[in-house]
Amino acid sequence: MQFSWERNRRCFHLAGTPAIINENDQNKMPPLHFDILTLFPGIFEGFLSESVLKNALDADKLRIRLHNMRDWADDKHATMDDRPFGGGPGMVLKVDRVVPSVEAVQSQHPEPGRLLMLTPQGRTFNQRFAESLVEEKRILLLCGRYEGFDERIVELLKPEEISIGDYILNGGEIAAMVVIESVMRLIPGVLGDQDSNQYDSFSSGNRLLDCAQYTRPREYRGLAVPEVLLNGHHAEINRWRDENTQNRTAEKRPDLLEKHES
Ligand code: ADE
Repeated sequence: MQFSWERNRRCFHLAGTPAIINENDQNKMPPLHFDILTLFPGIFEGFLSESVLKNALDADKLRIRLHNMRDWADDKHATMDDRPFGGGPGMVLKVDRVVPSVEAVQSQHPEPGRLLMLTPQGRTFNQRFAESLVEEKRILLLCGRYEGFDERIVELLKPEEISIGDYILNGGEIAAMVVIESVMRLIPGVLGDQDSNQYDSFSSGNRLLDCAQYTRPREYRGLAVPEVLLNGHHAEINRWRDENTQNRTAEKRPDLLEKHES
């Protein structure tokens, strides 16, 4: 694999194998571009250099730039956080560090992009939201740490605040990976089989849970694969799968059926 991290002054640029440009590519849309703003770029290293995402980056299906916000701190210790006014535990990310770094990254590209702030206060991320993001040209992911962001960061930058669920992480980095991974799977050509994401659970082709899947062996510890899946009758198999989708959604996630029917 050809994959290297190029360190320039303020970001890590993920350079995959240079894309081979042929005449047909000239009219192609440029690939979706993610900028990640974080205090801990190293957290992303393994994530970006393995498996489907690595292949997609190598094939220039998407581009990712990692920016260390600390590089915009001009004091000796690169201070990014401070104690909260009014007292209380924890530290707060400083407005005069975060805002200039986001503005600088925004101005590096002709597309201003869609700015997402990863925070437990945000709107809950889901598949529909991922589907809306894949239409974008550029997405900026702003990762918090510590007790959170100075509120003026939200007032000045007006980001879309996104949470990945009602629990508290140490920072937004894992949430940013969740966003990237779910969006990247929707980019045409990223998954081997063009249609293979369309019927995933929660997806545009199936807002319910995916049906049960089986592979060899046909029997294991007395548990047999449903006979219908072995008989080669596609209409019967599809009927079984539709029914299975309905039944397991009713059993495991009845809330999805209510949403589906309303
Ligand atoms: N940062 C900390 N917790 C988070 C969450 N649940 N979602 C997004 N960002 C976060």
